[in-house]
Amino acid sequence: MSESTAHGGTLVNLFAPHFEYKSIKEEIELDSISLSDLELIAVGAYSPLTGFLNQNEYESVLDNVRLTDGTVWSIPITLPIDEEKAKTITVGEWAKLSKDGVVYGVLHVAEVYKPDKIKEAEKVYRTTDLEHPGVKRLFERPNFYAAGDIKLVRRTEKGAFDEYHLDPADTRKKFKQYGWNTIVGFQTRNPVHRAHEYIQKSALEIVDGLFLNPLVGETKSDDIPADVRMESYEVLLKNYYPADRVFLAVFPAAMRYAGPREAIFHAIVRKNFGCTHFIVGRDHAGVGNYYGTYDAQKIFSQFTKEELGIIPLFFEHSFFCNKCEGMASTKTCPHGTEHHVTLSGTKVRQLLRSGIHPPGTFSRKEVVDVLMKGLRK
Ligand code: ADX
Repeated sequence: MSESTAHGGTLVNLFAPHFEYKSIKEEIELDSISLSDLELIAVGAYSPLTGFLNQNEYESVLDNVRLTDGTVWSIPITLPIDEEKAKTITVGEWAKLSKDGVVYGVLHVAEVYKPDKIKEAEKVYRTTDLEHPGVKRLFERPNFYAAGDIKLVRRTEKGAFDEYHLDPADTRKKFKQYGWNTIVGFQTRNPVHRAHEYIQKSALEIVDGLFLNPLVGETKSDDIPADVRMESYEVLLKNYYPADRVFLAVFPAAMRYAGPREAIFHAIVRKNFGCTHFIVGRDHAGVGNYYGTYDAQKIFSQFTKEELGIIPLFFEHSFFCNKCEGMASTKTCPHGTEHHVTLSGTKVRQLLRSGIHPPGTFSRKEVVDVLMKGLRK
């Protein structure tokens, strides 16, 4: 395995700022998820995808967790359109892809199809329960999918934290500049608490660099907003991480909450960003009680090392143990849970909102200060 190999062999680049799209009449309005998917396809984060999946590829991803050529792919990347649009759009033609009046890309319409969303929910989310945020969103989005290759004609506005938006080609360059041969990717949709820090640093003991890659696309409303989290990462890195061993950049995708399938997807995307290793802890990309604590680790055994091309590093449930007087995990600590400092995300948010500091054994004080300030705004 080589650090420079993208999933499927080639890092996709479909940015075409000079593409002549003005004469195209057909137009599809994107939602924020499709817009982020469009850009992520174009910059190669979703290599080898070159567009939104057609029905064959879609069914193959649902049934086999692979594209039709056998390449591992776990989350269907689709472009939902409503029935009206599905009736009028012409297969074989180009369509502009826009949001709020701004054209960001074009789609060469290869197909329009009606997905079986119940099947998609069962396969991707392992549930059809509308309480599941990913399933809920699946059913809320329009009922037809447009498929075909895309080009990106305009980059999205990044707003704050612009410097943390890097394309896979750029992160790969950065890793080279740092002289890192082995890089572990870390996905998160949360602030980095002590348990996250523990597994990151445990991983860092065996690789050259850590790529802290928080997801900042659409998340559910009770997750901590991305701008607050970004500030918390900055303060944490400044105070507790060696600057030459860690690199922070964002992953501007929507969170799917698809547990095991999303763990595979998250790993493949980080491979495209140039990582050689990827951290999967407890209940990765999970929500509620839909997935077993280690289901997102178990799914990796369905694939060979070669076909994944990135090495997953598995970590058990980690916490501060008052008896051990240090960070530990269910693998390394012999003491009962009464000695362990564990707080659910909901509990932490409750504490923060009521102005109560979670203990320093759970989260660094500097991080808590930023979160409290951010949530008060
Ligand atoms: S995720 O939805 O983005 O995966 P989160 O930000 O909570 O959620 O987790 C980021 C990574 O840390 C995931 O790989 C997750 O499995 C892991 N993780 C989170 N908390 C713990 C913990 N206490 N012990 C072990 N792994 C954890």
